[in-house]
Amino acid sequence: MNIRHSLHEHYNFPAIAPSILAADYTKLGAEIESCTKSGIKWIHCDVMDGHFVPNISYGPMIVEAARRSAPDAFLDTHLMIYNPAQYLEAFQKAGANLISIHAEADPHAHRTLSAIKELGLYAGIAINPGTPLTQIEELLPEVDLVCVMSVNPGFGGQKFINGSIPKIQRLAAWRKQMGLNFLIEIDGGVGVDNAEMIARAGTDVLVAGSSVFGAEDRQERIQRLTQKCIIGSTDLA
Ligand code: DX5
Ligand code: ZN
Repeated sequence: MNIRHSLHEHYNFPAIAPSILAADYTKLGAEIESCTKSGIKWIHCDVMDGHFVPNISYGPMIVEAARRSAPDAFLDTHLMIYNPAQYLEAFQKAGANLISIHAEADPHAHRTLSAIKELGLYAGIAINPGTPLTQIEELLPEVDLVCVMSVNPGFGGQKFINGSIPKIQRLAAWRKQMGLNFLIEIDGGVGVDNAEMIARAGTDVLVAGSSVFGAEDRQERIQRLTQKCIIGSTDLA
């Protein structure tokens, strides 16, 4: 998808985006297919460099494998790396649809976001729990998605930080005031117990790693998470 169509026209939100960080890599293809067969349209890929975050995950090769396993999925690629501009083309070639960079990891985020869009991809900005929204205020007109981290990035399976909820609500209010239409994503600690509350706050994309891939019955878990989102967003309307 090299043309930047309106995401709102092509996908239904709120949506669950399983993070393959928590998948079983001995059978990654089957893990991804278990999601797409259960109605998942977005797959979240977590790239970690061992510098910006204290863990190393994977690079473009796994994104490319995800692309082959799910030719029609929207690959939401979350770069938790310093100097992201150096790797944009590699992730584009691997099949990413959207690339998010961290505001804290790139002093030239504005330029890098433009470069992502020039490659025909969607551009996202991610912020850590301790980073104020004001740090990305000027970037908001430039992005297709804001990823609000609800854990300190680096590892799956962490506890959801509740302070992320007012942050989402403020961001949703700003979006309305500014007349913008970027998507709001929450990443980290999402599960059946809090998905409804997260959707009610105005979240469009809920990333879920261990909750999805930790479930034996993948389809049942995805359905439950999706139902919770729908209930929460109905309250919002
Ligand atoms: C954290 C990653 C998240 C994480 C989500 O650094 O960006 O995407 O893997 O995993 P869970 O859902 O297990 O918190
Ligand atoms: Zn992520």
